[in-house]
Amino acid sequence: MTNIEPYKTMPFSCGGVWPHGIPISQSWASIGAIFSLIHTYKIKTFVEIGTDQGGLGYLLSTVESSIDGFRYHGIEKYPDKIHETMNKSEFRKKIFDGDFFAEDGQTWLEEILINSTKPIMVLCDNGNKPEEVRIVSEKMKLGYILSHDYPTEFKETDQPENTKRIENAWLPGTNLYLMKKGK
Ligand SMILES: C[S@@+](CC[C@H](N)C(=O)[O-])C[C@H]1O[C@@H](n2cnc3c(N)ncnc32)[C@H](O)[C@@H]1O
Repeated sequence: MTNIEPYKTMPFSCGGVWPHGIPISQSWASIGAIFSLIHTYKIKTFVEIGTDQGGLGYLLSTVESSIDGFRYHGIEKYPDKIHETMNKSEFRKKIFDGDFFAEDGQTWLEEILINSTKPIMVLCDNGNKPEEVRIVSEKMKLGYILSHDYPTEFKETDQPENTKRIENAWLPGTNLYLMKKGK
């Protein structure tokens, strides 16, 4: 008989999800939640801070053709990490090679926030989630901020006062924490 114990936690554990052959550091539950949030809140622009190999960016770029007006943007400080499948693809240009905390990274975000179609959702997933969330919440007038690695690297106490938390049926069982900036 199959031992199902390991599978009970798999959808909630990070990594090991390779829809396009590029690793994604999210669980299936989190990927499902991200797509649910995109459709629920009619997100037109999705920003990923810290793409790693580009697996999530590739997956989200593929839905640009099916979700009217939807666009993906990512930033990665160490572009050598980006997977060869992403490097060879038309989606590679959607990832900006830069340090989010440096001037060019901040300008990259500001230009997206100003020029992109709303609503915008920003996934904070690089080295310092509380600081990324804080910066995004200050620069964003209206939109959604999603932090990864809740409650390990991002805690309720890290939520900026200028945001409100949003509960969603897909979020329990993931390590995503959703906030809204503005009304
Ligand atoms: C946990 S991984 C991201 C996983 C990815 N979001 C996914 O879902 O597959 C964090 C990434 O953030 C990148 N990173 C760390 N500091 C950064 C910075 N200051 N600016 C941009 N990227 C950064 C790291 O190189 C690493 O690839």
